[in-house]
Amino acid sequence: MTRTLRVELGERSYDVRIAPGAVSDLGEATARLGAVSSGVIISDETVAAHYGRAAGEALRAVGLDAPLLTFPPGEPHKTFATYGELLDAVLQCQPAIDRRSVIIALGGGVTGDLAGFVAATCLRGLRFVQCPTTLLADVDSAVGGKTGVDHAAGKNLIGAFHQPSAVVIDVQTLGTLSDAELRNGLAECVKHAVIRDADLLTFIDHGAKPFFARDVDALSELVARNVAIKAAVVAGDEREYGDRAHLNFGHTVGHAIEVDADYTLAHGSAVALGMLVESELAVGRGLLARDAADRLGDVLERLGLPVRRAGLSAERLGRLMQRDKKARAGKVRFVLPTAIGSVTVVDDVTDDALREALQRIA
Ligand code: NAD
Ligand code: GLY
Repeated sequence: MTRTLRVELGERSYDVRIAPGAVSDLGEATARLGAVSSGVIISDETVAAHYGRAAGEALRAVGLDAPLLTFPPGEPHKTFATYGELLDAVLQCQPAIDRRSVIIALGGGVTGDLAGFVAATCLRGLRFVQCPTTLLADVDSAVGGKTGVDHAAGKNLIGAFHQPSAVVIDVQTLGTLSDAELRNGLAECVKHAVIRDADLLTFIDHGAKPFFARDVDALSELVARNVAIKAAVVAGDEREYGDRAHLNFGHTVGHAIEVDADYTLAHGSAVALGMLVESELAVGRGLLARDAADRLGDVLERLGLPVRRAGLSAERLGRLMQRDKKARAGKVRFVLPTAIGSVTVVDDVTDDALREALQRIA
C-alpha cells in the first residue's frame, strides 16, 4: 500500500511517498519534478552496495544517466572535507550538471544531511530528492530541510535550511538495517509520541515485535504516523523560531550524555536516557504525573533502549549543555513533557533539579 503525505510550506511544499519497493520508483519521482536535465546519486559505501544499482537503474529507466558518488559510512565522515570532495565530484560529473540537475540522497541521516548541503550550495541551490534508508532518516532527518555537516566545535554547526523537492521512502530497505540502527530510529518515534501523540506511544509499544521482524505493513504505518507529526511541526515553524524546538525533547540532555560518553553510546540510547532525565525534571516540577514518566521508561525498556546510567555528573552535563547550539543567551532550554502527547519549554532548570533527575535514572 502506498501512502502519500504532504509537507505544506507554500512554494517549497513537497510530497513524502511511502511505498514498499519505492527505490525502483526513484526515476519517476525525480522526473515528476519537471524540467530535470540530469541526476547525481549520493550515498555512503554501505548503502550504495545494497541499493545503488537499483537506484541507478530506476533513473536510467526515465532517461536520466545518474552517476553514483559515494563516501565512507558513519558520522565521522559528515565533515566539511567530505562535503568538499562530494562537491568537487558533482562539479566534474559528465554530462556536466546544470541548474536543472537533481541530487538524490540515498542513505541514512548522514547521507541526507551531506547530500542536502551539497544541493543547497551547488550552483546556488539545486533540487534534491531524499531517499532515506534508515528508520531515523525515514521518520526524522529526511523531512524538514535541515542539511549540513559537523565541525570540531560540535555536531551540525555548518549547514543550511534547504527543503527536498520530494521524499521517497522504501521501508523494505530497513530489511538490511541492523537492529541497533532500527532502535536509534525507534527512539525518535517515541520522542514524536511524547511531544504530540499519546496513541502513537501505545502503537509503538504494541508494535515492537513486528518492527524488529521488519513487517512492512507495521513499519509503513509507523513511518507514516511519524512523518505526519514531523511534517506538521515543520509546516508550523520551518526555521525553528518556535515549536520546532519541541523536536529537541530528549536531545538537550541526550546530546550532553553522548558527548560525555565520547560518542561511544548509540544516539538512540543517549536520546532514550535524555528523554527519561527530562521527564524526571518534569515530574520534579509537578508538570508531569509520575505514572506517565514510568510508562515512558517501560516502553523504552521493552524496545531494548537503556533506562539507567550511573555516574552522570550534573555539573559536567550542565557545562556541555551550555556549549550546545540549542542554548540561547547562555540559558539552556529544556523541552519537558506535561503529559504523554504534550510538552512545554523551560529555561530555569537548576543544577540541584538536574542532579535529582540524574539520581532517579542512576
Ligand atoms: P547513518 O546515515 O550514519 O546510517 C547509520 C548506518 O547504517 C551507516 O553505517 C549506514 O551505512 C548504515 N545503513 C543505512 N541504511 C542502511 C540499510 N538500509 N541497510 C544497511 N545499512 C544501512 O545514520 P542515521 O542514524 O541514519 O542518521 C544520523 C544522522 O542524522 C546524524 O548525523 C544526525 O545529526 C542526522 N540527523 C539529521 C536530522 C535533520 O533534521 N537533518 C534529524 C535527525 C538526525
Ligand atoms: N530533528 C530535529 C529537527 O528536524 O528539527
